Amino acid sequence: MSNPVVGVIMGSDSDLPVMKEAAEMLDHFGVEYELTIVSAHRTPERMTEYAQSARERGLKVIIAGAGGAAHLPGMVSSLTTLPVIGVPVNSSNSIDGWDSVLSILQMPGGIPVATVALDGAKNAGILAAEIIGTNDEMVADKLASYKEELKSKVMDKVKNIETKGWKDTKIGF
Ligand code: RP5
Repeated sequence: MSNPVVGVIMGSDSDLPVMKEAAEMLDHFGVEYELTIVSAHRTPERMTEYAQSARERGLKVIIAGAGGAAHLPGMVSSLTTLPVIGVPVNSSNSIDGWDSVLSILQMPGGIPVATVALDGAKNAGILAAEIIGTNDEMVADKLASYKEELKSKVMDKVKNIETKGWKDTKIGF
């Protein structure tokens, strides 16, 4: 096992059912990662220490998920030069998810957060793997196979709808 290159962090363990999808994709692409809870509001010192030490600890990308007044991704981005991918979580304290999206998306100029869709941790994991894949051929090859699989699944559906006709097509096979 090598050192983690991606940090997956979230404001609370209640974010884990969403955020685990990022970890699952990193497992799929063979990317080493660490996963932990870092709360911008409840553990601000831990957040600062985590973000400021991330690069020297060998991380290349941080995926940060939070919900409601979701300040974790933006604050982490302000404290590191690593790329930060933000995952807005439709959490227990979220009104409807828009609060999470806008808190993470609408960053001021100079402090970027690459924001994925609401509860879009899966894409955050893929995007992090793509960043790692810019400098890691094994990861890049796995990403290429993944995209081929997606393509062939769609082509199977195309064939299915052509042979059965749209009326008899079972959706999502
Ligand atoms: C946010 O508050 C966390 O990221 C989580 O989405 C939300 C609710 O946290 P808990 O009250 O469930 O711990 O900071």
